[in-house]
Amino acid sequence: MLIAQISDIHASPDGPSLLAFERAIDWLKAFRPDALVLTGDLVDDGWQQGYRRIAEGLRALNFPVYLLPGNGDDRSVMRAELSEVGRWTGMSGPMHFRAAVNGVSLVGVDVTVPGQSYGEIRPHLPWLRNALSDVAIPVLLFTHQPPFEVGIEVLDQVGCRNGDALREFLEAGTRPPLGVLCGHVHRPVSGRWGSIALQTCGSLCPPNPLLFRGRHDLPLLDAPSFLVHELRKDQLLSHVVSIRSIADNV
Ligand SMILES: [Fe+2]
Repeated sequence: MLIAQISDIHASPDGPSLLAFERAIDWLKAFRPDALVLTGDLVDDGWQQGYRRIAEGLRALNFPVYLLPGNGDDRSVMRAELSEVGRWTGMSGPMHFRAAVNGVSLVGVDVTVPGQSYGEIRPHLPWLRNALSDVAIPVLLFTHQPPFEVGIEVLDQVGCRNGDALREFLEAGTRPPLGVLCGHVHRPVSGRWGSIALQTCGSLCPPNPLLFRGRHDLPLLDAPSFLVHELRKDQLLSHVVSIRSIADNV
């Protein structure tokens, strides 16, 4: 069981991200995962043509695609332009998704707060309680902003607020997810909440450098990347797939 995860394309008219997206899509066509999840920030500034280009790439895939918005997305433009490929639980408001793919439950919670870079989980806990009440296990839970700190201050300031409430809720439930899988950080970071794996996905736009503990002097060596999650019974393995720097591709 293979779930691919792409995050933070941040497509813009003059940026290299759409080229990285096209390379990732070509690779996924050959790789053929069971599903693909996009964890937000598809374009910058609600760029409508960018959503169209992304929709075109996703329509060419012959496996299901699930999408969450990020803080850089315009929910209404994204919903309109990606309605053919997106699968959300409501026709308006938060763009949550819930799906079963080959016995694995994929649950996406839209924690974005319109007009803000940070996210917030609290208003969505009732929806999540209901979504998890009768799902098959294992469960993978997706959000854009991570509800846990990654140790990089500038990013933790704009993470998903009240992550502790989510952790408490998940650990007290009968169906804690195998993993909480996020975007927003533009770097792959992994950790744990007890038995729950925590993972952020790298970005398809140029990654953030490791601004660790206030260090701003480190050069960027990392390449854009995405993830392939493999589930083997109750084991979750997350593989990083790097895309060579755009400069190598042109
Ligand atoms: Fe973001």
